Amino acid sequence: MAVVSVCSTKGGVGKTTLVICLADAVARQGGSVAIIDADPNGHVAAWRERAGPACTVAVVSDVTERTILDRIADAAARYGVVLVDLEGAASQAVTYAIAESDLVLIPSKVSGMDLQEVFRTYEVVQRAERMLRRPIPARVVLTQMSPLQSRVAQHARQEIQDASIPVLRTEIIQRAAYQAIHFTGATPAGPDGDPKARSEVKGVLDEILATLAAQQEAA
Ligand SMILES: Nc1ncnc2c1ncn2[C@@H]1O[C@H](COP(=O)(O)OP(=O)(O)OP(=O)(O)O)[C@@H](O)[C@H]1O
Ligand SMILES: [Mg+2]
Repeated sequence: MAVVSVCSTKGGVGKTTLVICLADAVARQGGSVAIIDADPNGHVAAWRERAGPACTVAVVSDVTERTILDRIADAAARYGVVLVDLEGAASQAVTYAIAESDLVLIPSKVSGMDLQEVFRTYEVVQRAERMLRRPIPARVVLTQMSPLQSRVAQHARQEIQDASIPVLRTEIIQRAAYQAIHFTGATPAGPDGDPKARSEVKGVLDEILATLAAQQEAA
């Protein structure tokens, strides 16, 4: 029922990795979850094969600009949570996905250049809001942070908040556990998952679910 798009006009910020981690965490909590793989590179499909038959995450592949609205609507009717993995650009497909979303997650690294892309991505969300005449909540999540960047992260967080864009409390640190996902298929939520990465993923998921619940209550 809840559609969450993960997008950024910048490539390589950790969108696909986050989508996979969140989806697997939902599945392992017993939730029904699908990923709409709207990036032509198909990295989610490759991960899904490695994850094997025990994994209950559904993946909808071969999604194009022409089919994305239907694919999201179909998945939203069948699954409790639908996560949309988008390409790192501002395309028509990205706008369509945002328009169908209950929440937009914008992952970003903390450098100044990356923040520019946060603002650019947020503008895409704002244009969709104007087009649809409805609010589309968005949250930034700071990702791939080096443990040495906590000072910079504070500046980044402040700058984003000064632009009235909410930032999740949880930060995703740069860890080998996140890179391994694409090789092993195993995510931090799995039985041998890195506990620190698992707690970050759980933190992001809890914040997202709380936001969605608050929205539903307000509606
Ligand atoms: N928290 C993290 N710690 C370490 N490496 C990470 C982390 N998140 C992502 N990566 C690595 O960074 C690279 C880019 O990540 P990912 O593919 O998830 O980004 P993306 O935003 O989906 O990229 P694209 O825009 O190309 O689709 C990958 O090699 C991934 O393994
Ligand atoms: Mg990706």
